[in-house]
Amino acid sequence: MRIVTASAPGKVILFGEHAVVYGRPAIAVPVDRVQATAEVRRYAKGGIRILAPDLGEDSLLAELPPDHPLGIVVRGALVELGQTAEAGLRITVRSTIPIASGLGSGAAVSTAIVRALAGYFERPLALADVSRLAFEAEKVYHGSPSGVDNTVIAYERPVYFVRDRTLETFCATRPFTLLIGDTGVASPTKETVGDVRRAWQAEPDRFELLFDLCAEITRRARAAIEAGEPALLGPLMDRNQDLLAEMGVSSPELEGLIEAARRSGALGAKLSGGGRGGNMIAYVEAEEADVVSAALLQAGARDVILTRISAETRN
Ligand code: PMV
Repeated sequence: MRIVTASAPGKVILFGEHAVVYGRPAIAVPVDRVQATAEVRRYAKGGIRILAPDLGEDSLLAELPPDHPLGIVVRGALVELGQTAEAGLRITVRSTIPIASGLGSGAAVSTAIVRALAGYFERPLALADVSRLAFEAEKVYHGSPSGVDNTVIAYERPVYFVRDRTLETFCATRPFTLLIGDTGVASPTKETVGDVRRAWQAEPDRFELLFDLCAEITRRARAAIEAGEPALLGPLMDRNQDLLAEMGVSSPELEGLIEAARRSGALGAKLSGGGRGGNMIAYVEAEEADVVSAALLQAGARDVILTRISAETRN
């Protein structure tokens, strides 16, 4: 029997979350240490059965409501591939990416599904098409997503992302090491994005200024990464964290981990993604990683992932 499996990595946003929803740039990188996978095989009973054991999902596509993200991505991919929903297919999704924690689990699951279906029907899709199909499901997960998650995950390269602009991927000229610390607090991005929107509507001038300051930090960070001066990233992360706290998306759990990282030798630290929970990131010298990682766990991190942004195109 023909079985096709495809995967997609997680991601972290290094700079510019939330401001990116308002047209400012963000920098995001793929994280290969966590992955979503999708397996497609024939389903003799006909129809399309979607299984996501980690989510307790086992449904026929025809039974899923129109706004179900897995249904949206499967339907979108089938249309793109010129297939009908009548095909007998079983799609099984698994993921090691924690949900609602800023690591892009939704976009990774969508991307893995699109890739596996494209592989099954032997119709390779352009990266831009994979990203676009995953974006449709992001709208359900996120409300008004910027598109940064599906983009960095579909392209699997560091991206300098500005909403509705041609994508810019870029490379680090010197490698650098990040620790990703999980608060263990689930925080749906849709809620924090909605709260920031309401706060922006109430105080547009203050929030526009905060977004502009984030944009300046993101531009400087890109220049530092491209110039091979990652040491500059630490203070830039700290300043981005201050601005995110002013936006109201930090939390005591995030701040506890950020402080623990800084005190134990991280060169800078900030929340990553939607905030209020989920993950924080710390920029560390490679030789300090063990010490900072232990401090994060001691301070209550549920998990710590080390990821290295390499000087090539992928980390
Ligand atoms: O998926 P998360 O939690 O990494 O957050 C996405 C980043 C936001 O800027 C908060 C929202 C967006 O759509 O860009």
